[in-house]
Formats: sequence, C-alpha cells, structure tokens
Amino acid sequence: MGSPDLPNTPARLVVDVDTGIDDALALLYLLASPDADIAAVLCTAGNVPVDQVTANTLAVLEMCGRSDIEVAVGAQVPLVAPLMTTEDTHGPLGVGYAELPPASRAPSARSAAEAWVELTRTHPGELTGLVTGPMTNLALAIRMDPDLPRRLRRLVIMGGCFNHPGNTTPTSEWNVAVDPEAAREVFDAFSGLPDSQRPIVCPLDVTETIEMHAVHVARIAEAAESLPAEVLSPDDPRGLRSRASNMVVRHLSDSLRFYMEFHRDQNLGFLAHVHDPFAAAVALGTIQYTTKPATVDVELEGRLTRGTTIADWAGMWGREPNADIVTGTRPEAFFEHFVARVGAFARNLKLPFSNN
Ligand code: RIB
Ligand code: CA
Repeated sequence: MGSPDLPNTPARLVVDVDTGIDDALALLYLLASPDADIAAVLCTAGNVPVDQVTANTLAVLEMCGRSDIEVAVGAQVPLVAPLMTTEDTHGPLGVGYAELPPASRAPSARSAAEAWVELTRTHPGELTGLVTGPMTNLALAIRMDPDLPRRLRRLVIMGGCFNHPGNTTPTSEWNVAVDPEAAREVFDAFSGLPDSQRPIVCPLDVTETIEMHAVHVARIAEAAESLPAEVLSPDDPRGLRSRASNMVVRHLSDSLRFYMEFHRDQNLGFLAHVHDPFAAAVALGTIQYTTKPATVDVELEGRLTRGTTIADWAGMWGREPNADIVTGTRPEAFFEHFVARVGAFARNLKLPFSNN
C-alpha cells in the first residue's frame, strides 16, 4: 500500500458535509482525532435538505462538546439540477433512528461558500478540504474566487464511481448525481495544479468495501465501556432503539441500525457502507491506500448517464490528470483504527447531560 503524501502534523480541515449518517460518523471520527483540527464545517443539501443538514451538524458538534467549531449554511439547491434528497437512506431527519439533542446555537452568519473563500485566503496553503457531500458549495466558492484551488493544501472528495456500479443511477454516485454541474466545475478547476495538489478522490469502488457490521458497533460500545453490550441483530424488530448507557454509542447505534436496515432492504446484507469516515481518514493520512492518477470529467448530457464520473487513466483526451483516485485499501485496518479512536473518544467524553 502506498503511504499517503499528506502531512503527519495535525491536519487543519475545512469539512463540507450533507449530514447524513456516515457524515455524522466522519465528524465523530474527526472530533476523536488528535491529528484533526477542524476550522469549519460547511453544510450543503444532499442526503436531506440543508437546514436539516445544518441542524444535524450543529447537534453532533454540541453533543461532543465542540460548539466552538464554526458551522455555516450552504447551498439550498444544486447549481442547475432540482434538489434530490434521500430520506429513505438516511431517515426522515438524516440520522436514521437517532434523536440528537437539538443544538443551542445558530450557524455562522457567513455562507458556506464565503467561508471556503475567506478561510483559504486567511490560511493559504494550510487547509485540507474534505467534501463528503455534493460539491455545490465548493463550486460556488470557486466561482467567487477562481484562485481558491491553489490555496488549498489538498482536497479530499468522497464521490464518484469508476469501474464500479453507481448507487444512484446505474453509473452515478450520490454526491455527484445530486449536483453533476458542481462536480464538473470542481474537477475542471483543479486541473493544471501541481501533482501534490491533485484532489484525492474516494469513489464507491473503494468506499463500498468499507462495510460496517454489527460487530464494529459492539466493539465501539465495549471500548466506550457502555452498558449493556450493544448487540445489533438482523433479527431485531425494525427500529429497535439502543439502551446504551453512553450517549455517543446510543446515537451511533440508532443511526447505524437504520442504515443497516436500508442496506439489507437493498439486498446488500445487514451492514452499512460508511463512505465518509473513510474519506476523513484519507484526509488525516491515518490509513494506507493506493491511488492512481487520472483525468476525471463528469457527464452532464447523457439521457441515461448524466452524473457519471469518467476517468481517463491513459491520457486519451490529451488532458493532464486532475485527480488521484483511491484504488485500494485495507478495510479491516481501517475499522481497527476507527473503532479504537471512536470508542476511546466516547468513553472519555464527559457529556454535560447524560447518564454517560
Ligand atoms: O454515495 C455515498 C455518499 O452520498 C456519502 O457521502 C453519503 O453520505 C451520501 O452523501
Ligand atoms: Ca455524505
């Protein structure tokens, strides 16, 4: 496995989310990570409408005692396409069966796009961008300031699929399918940068190997010293709620149960593809993975293929590569790392209002 060429000092991050179950897991993982320094979390419509994404994001940060981190509201709708959301996948509120305590603070006064522009101007060359939702905010920010890509240390994107079926249409992945125009503008804008600044793209090809199972939830609960043992079973009644003594474990379990039931309904098994935490670990450089450079573009016109990401691996288009596509990793190593970090974090978090 090639080791990532990301810095091993704490990564200062701008995280753009459509919180969602796995976005929430990614935030939890980053908050649990001493090598992550979150400058801001920016919200976009995707899994659920942006106001719900914002409420979920504020709630996760407050539950973890991190109301110091800026949360900004972004795009209500994609650049061109009508808004598409997916409550059937992530639940009516976007976090499965979890009922997160509502946050007590409001989001930032500036928009997500303004935050992208201003943060990268204030900290040129220092910030790693992590996008785990549609790329609408980043595309709007680049329209405001085309020099933005050069000011980012690195960009990590969860999105696309290449030699792998789509999860939204037969050939398109959700984050790109929601806003294909934004994805194309972002890939175009990151063309012509030095190799070291090429976006690292985490496609379904790899993120659908990051299968979270009930045993991983049980191990997190055990590491958190939560009681009783957290045992999710496919034989449980649908919608059974967790009784975990640890609040983070309870919400994580309730959100993942919904996601696992969804994957089972799709005949994928009682499991959850946790795309976003994997991309977060890539952004921190805490796991090993392989990549391959390619020129990525997005189909916008195809009657059947709109939203499809295409990788030119061999330079057939005569254009320089504009992405390093993740082609492989070791899922078991990821989960060992993820479970240890999140479990310890949940154990040590002294929540202000819970029978922790
Ligand atoms: O296709 C998976 C991606 O779409 C994940 O980021 C999930 O949260 C949804 O946004
Ligand atoms: Ca997401």
